[in-house]
Amino acid sequence: MSTPRKLAAGNWKMNGTAAELSEVKTLLAEQAAPGCDVLLCPPATLIHRMAQAAEGSILKVGGQDCHARQSGAHTGDISAAMLKDAGASHVILGHSERRADHGESDEDVRAKAEAALAAGLVAVICVGETLEQRESGATLDIVAAQLGGSIPDDVSAGTLVVAYEPVWAIGTGKVPETAQIAEVHDFIRARLSSRFGEAGQGVALLYGGSVKPSNAAEIFAVENVNGALVGGASLKAADFGAIVAALSDA
Ligand code: PGA
Repeated sequence: MSTPRKLAAGNWKMNGTAAELSEVKTLLAEQAAPGCDVLLCPPATLIHRMAQAAEGSILKVGGQDCHARQSGAHTGDISAAMLKDAGASHVILGHSERRADHGESDEDVRAKAEAALAAGLVAVICVGETLEQRESGATLDIVAAQLGGSIPDDVSAGTLVVAYEPVWAIGTGKVPETAQIAEVHDFIRARLSSRFGEAGQGVALLYGGSVKPSNAAEIFAVENVNGALVGGASLKAADFGAIVAALSDA
């Protein structure tokens, strides 16, 4: 059975200008050799400069979205190849904010993921239920549909990361019980294993939604949690560094 690599991933969302790159320098100074992979996904405007700052270090840099096409008349969009060219190794796809704000469907996410794989990027595909869906008992059905619809057929353990992010936990300070996280992560692992066999065993499964230094260790102790996708707490080197350290120790 292949063991997933642990990954601490930060999603800066629409935050950060060149001034905030100092946080990256602090992070790298404090986390020179962590026991896990570390990824930061800044706004597209900072990818190149962050990748330059990270050169030769453990830090990988990713995008937050890409277009499904390689090039063309798509004003304001960025292709996977462009992210790669700017220095990205990963791209977050299907984040709930993109699904909600831009109406992205599972089919859209899958097409983007195919483009990401073709460009040589690792696709970090996000899934997760709304509060209404959880309260109506639909969580596993929703997650199953998103997994089935959003993930391309030709992924491998090294080219796919799945992030479980309950929409109601994102930016709210609310975190599911560890038993709730375990239930969904076990479910995702089982679905990936049955669809992709050995490769599905090796895909890193991240939990996302209000992860902080104070709750990280408890979350990382849950089976089938191989890391975190961190929003707000990834903006400050001290907080993100503490989460990286908790994952290294897990
Ligand atoms: P949060 O965001 O850590 O600020 O809740 C997580 C995410 O949206 O990836």
